[in-house]
Amino acid sequence: MIITIDGPSGSGKSTVAQKIAQDRGIFYLNTGLLYRAITYLVYEDPTSPLFGRYDDDIELITRDQLDALPTLAYAYSADGATVFVHGQDIVAKCYATPGLDQVASKLSALPVVREFLLDVQRDIAKQHDVIADGRDCGTVVFPDAEHKIFLTASLDVRAQRRMLDAKVQALGLTFEFVRNDLAERDERDENRAIAPLRIPAGATVIDSSDFSIDQTVEMIIKVVS
Ligand code: C5P
Repeated sequence: MIITIDGPSGSGKSTVAQKIAQDRGIFYLNTGLLYRAITYLVYEDPTSPLFGRYDDDIELITRDQLDALPTLAYAYSADGATVFVHGQDIVAKCYATPGLDQVASKLSALPVVREFLLDVQRDIAKQHDVIADGRDCGTVVFPDAEHKIFLTASLDVRAQRRMLDAKVQALGLTFEFVRNDLAERDERDENRAIAPLRIPAGATVIDSSDFSIDQTVEMIIKVVS
């Protein structure tokens, strides 16, 4: 079984998807984490030929370079989603590296990167029943998924929720900054030429602006039951 949850940045997809994975006893596939992990390996790993060069070289990435990256091993357990590289958990780096989310959003607009990760995502779903969250899970990666959800919330509500995040607080970011950052990523994800963020055909659309996480989870569980 495959359940997909797509939606804009900060709509709560990953929190909700993990709770549903636990409730249903299925595997959680956080596709955004895979895009972040690739970004980390390409630009932040000191052994990468593109280390620290993400401003000017983003268009130059080739399939050969991606194939030469160390293997990303995605795992999911009760503790959450993890990506291991050479046996090391890189999740904290994928979320805590300042600016990595913006670079991930630029990198994810490249066809070569999307094609590379398509197989990775589909291979995971061959091995488990999954709930996958991202931007193109119901449209491109798993168009035949049994259940498709499009989860959204207003930009202000998404920015307010982000402000409660410990990592955002630790960095001392302002509401304006966080709001603009989300808006910029939305713009890029919605308008890229390949696999743009869209409501998948047949998806149930849920606007969680006025709902708690638990209320949203309950609504989705009704849809997938
Ligand atoms: O979901 P998250 O914010 O962690 O994803 C990081 C970035 O990866 C997003 O801004 C988006 O550009 C990209 N992404 C994507 N397709 C997916 C998941 C994430 O393009 N399925």
